[in-house]
Amino acid sequence: MKILVTGGAGFVGFNLLCYLKDSYPTYQLLAYDNLKRLGSEQNVPSLLARGIEFVHGDIRNAQELQQVGAVDVIIHCASDASVLGGITSSSELIVQNNLLGSINVFEYAAQCNAKLVYFSTNRIYSCESLNALAYMEQETRFTLEENQQLAGVSDQGISEQFPILLSKTFYGATKYCGEVLLQEYAAYKGLQYVVNRFGVISGKGQFGMESQGVIAYWLRQHLEKKPLKYIGFGGSGKQVRDALHVADVCALVDLQLQHFDSVQGNVFNAGGGYANSFSLLELTGYCEALTGNSVPIQVVADQRAGDIPIYYTDNSHVTAALGWVPQRSIHDILSDLLDWLDPTAKISFPG
Ligand SMILES: NC(=O)c1ccc[n+]([C@@H]2O[C@H](COP(=O)([O-])OP(=O)(O)OC[C@H]3O[C@@H](n4cnc5c(N)ncnc54)[C@H](O)[C@@H]3O)[C@@H](O)[C@H]2O)c1
Repeated sequence: MKILVTGGAGFVGFNLLCYLKDSYPTYQLLAYDNLKRLGSEQNVPSLLARGIEFVHGDIRNAQELQQVGAVDVIIHCASDASVLGGITSSSELIVQNNLLGSINVFEYAAQCNAKLVYFSTNRIYSCESLNALAYMEQETRFTLEENQQLAGVSDQGISEQFPILLSKTFYGATKYCGEVLLQEYAAYKGLQYVVNRFGVISGKGQFGMESQGVIAYWLRQHLEKKPLKYIGFGGSGKQVRDALHVADVCALVDLQLQHFDSVQGNVFNAGGGYANSFSLLELTGYCEALTGNSVPIQVVADQRAGDIPIYYTDNSHVTAALGWVPQRSIHDILSDLLDWLDPTAKISFPG
């Protein structure tokens, strides 16, 4: 078995490769990454030391990618993974990375008849529709009202039936275009794939940069006693997300590879779910308790583009298909991150 992980030096790709190496020592594993993400280069020696091959390459370059040779499975993680990508930075760049780069990956997968696991995102759901959810304000968080006008929302959270068509950010749109094209690659080029629309993923290996996910960022700011902001929704800090431990992501991908024939062609929402949901206000409390530090938090009442009040994942579809449910809590995530971000650790954390 030969498996290529695009973005293999990034947070999720690196964790996946380490998990696969530990679980299947005889597999041939390759990381393919252009090391664009600050800090990814620090994972390369660790990959090599584990016997995982590293190829320094860019998915935007089709020829470079094809030079890797035939593989059995591609796990496609390479991406410009910032929700604000294309809004506060070049929109052309995010389209090239996430869409044109993905097309090269799909072509390559179809040519070598490789099974493909596509890392998509819950940000493919329309921001406008997420902002139209009926919710109420409680002491520490927003909660969904019982009666909703939109499809795909229940007390279980947001399912795959939630509206997609309206605007969703460049990040969400480029990821969704990839999903749409995968259907065509399956129909006309025989490509077999699974799509995972992940929520917030967190755990060891995240550097706590703002663009890389809120949980590690919040904890690192507390550890380093640096200020934070509650942005949007009146600055209350009551917006809600769910947290998924990266080890649960690895377990899910493993199950999908084991049962590929029965799940191929499926699109799954996968996230921490209601049990692992949190508001920023609650996250602040957890970080204060863990670090013993409290930091100034500025209130910024106005929303930024792409902000949403509440999202937690309805995992019913993926649970029914594979029996997968997240095993680790947000508290497990935070304590693993605390070990990793410990300022005495011998890792250099990018600023
Ligand atoms: N982390 C999350 O919370 C989250 C949530 C939902 C979906 N996802 C998806 O999971 C995947 C992995 O995310 P992550 O958190 O590990 O991000 P990351 O930024 O840590 O890793 C992405 C890696 O891809 C590499 N890369 C970027 N553009 C590339 C290119 N053109 N060619 C080759 N390599 C390139 C980067 O250098 C980086 O190492 C992404 O597709 C992301 O959209 C992540």
